Order: sequence, then structure tokens, then C-alpha cells
Amino acid sequence: MAKVLVLHAHPAPHKSRINRRLAAAAREVEGLTFRDLYELYPDYMIDVEEEQRLLSEHDVIVFQHPFYWYSAPSLVKEYLDLVLTYGWAYGEGGTALRGKCMMQAISAGGSEEVYCPQGRNRFTIRQLLAPFDQTAFLCGMRYLAPHVIHGANQLADAASIQPLAQRYARMLKALRDETLPLEQATQAEKINDLIPA
Ligand SMILES: Cc1cc2nc3c(=O)[nH]c(=O)nc-3n(C[C@H](O)[C@H](O)[C@H](O)COP(=O)(O)O)c2cc1C
Repeated sequence: MAKVLVLHAHPAPHKSRINRRLAAAAREVEGLTFRDLYELYPDYMIDVEEEQRLLSEHDVIVFQHPFYWYSAPSLVKEYLDLVLTYGWAYGEGGTALRGKCMMQAISAGGSEEVYCPQGRNRFTIRQLLAPFDQTAFLCGMRYLAPHVIHGANQLADAASIQPLAQRYARMLKALRDETLPLEQATQAEKINDLIPA
């Protein structure tokens, strides 16, 4: 069994409809560690030592967040800036994360159609996430395709969000149980299609 760490980051959880429910589903997954970064660090004073300890202890790191300006909310960036230090995560002697998996679970306001070369957003989500992919690569990690929920603002009611939250939980369980084909999960545009029914 793989040890899965979910790092949830939403700056306004009281306004969230999608991530709030996904987070609740993730918290229910047995044997998984769930952390709410904005709850832990509302002042951005990240406990680097503690976060490094947790990263070391886990095999799969999932950043779960809404897609903001084609990227992540700012606390995720702060987390990466502070926690992935030279000599620990990368550079000389920086091998702490080597061999682990990293991925993102995001919700996006835009539909799937607008995230392509001909679409309004010109790039695919996977292309836009390239800085995270490269960060993982530099640290010797395997970057898995993102879990993406499109059209987030159209999903107004609990009845349409609940099945998506359940599917997300199934993906987390599959990561925990090591039943997802990792090679396919690395190559795919998004991991959603590989989630067991
Ligand atoms: C500051 C901000 C930036 C956003 N940027 C994007 C974006 O770049 N692309 C996109 O598809 N949606 C964007 N959105 C829409 C959010 O992704 C969407 O509202 C969110 O995923 C819904 O999840 P929630 O219900 O958990 O808040 C943005 C929303 C905000 C508030």
C-alpha cells in the first residue's frame, strides 16, 4: 500500500462548492493523510520542518486546489518555495523526494473545449501545469496526470457534485492500493479516465 498525502488549498473554503465536497470525500479515505493548507497556515508561516517530515513519510503527494489564473492559489506556490529546499529536495544531496509521485487534483471554471490549441485558453490543462511537472521532475519525482473537474461553476447542486467527489475518492483509493497503471497515469492528459468504475 502506498502512503498518500492530500494537501488541500482553497483560500475561501466557505465559498467553495467543489473542493469543499472533494475534501470531505478525501478525508473519509482510510489510511490517507489529509491536510488543509489554508487552515494550517492562514498567515503563510509554513512549518517547513514539519512539512518536510510529512513529505518524507509519504509516497504520493496530491495537491488539491481550484485552478486560479492557470495555476494554483498562492499558498501552494509559497509551500513549494519554502518546503522544497536545495540540498533536501534537489541539488547536491537533495534526494528526499526521489521516487515519489506527485499530482494535482484541480477544479476549473472553464470547460474541456476551451483548454486546447483552438480554444479560448489556447493550451491544455496539462500544458499549463508544466511548472509543477518540471518541479517534480527536478526533485526526481514522477508527475502523474492531473485529476480535473471542468465547468466547476456550472455544477451548482450537491446532486451533480457528489458523484464527482465519490469518483475522486475512488482515485485516491486506487493510488493508495497501487492499482492505477502508473505508466498510463504519467502519460495521460488527465487521470480521470483511468479511475476504476
Ligand atoms: C482568482 C480566481 C482565478 C480563477 N482562474 C481560473 C482559471 O485560470 N481557469 C479556470 O478555468 N477557472 C478559473 N477560476 C474559476 C475557479 O477555478 C472555479 O471557481 C473553482 O474551481 C470552483 O471550485 P470551488 O467551488 O471549490 O471554489 C478562477 C477563479 C478565481 C476566484
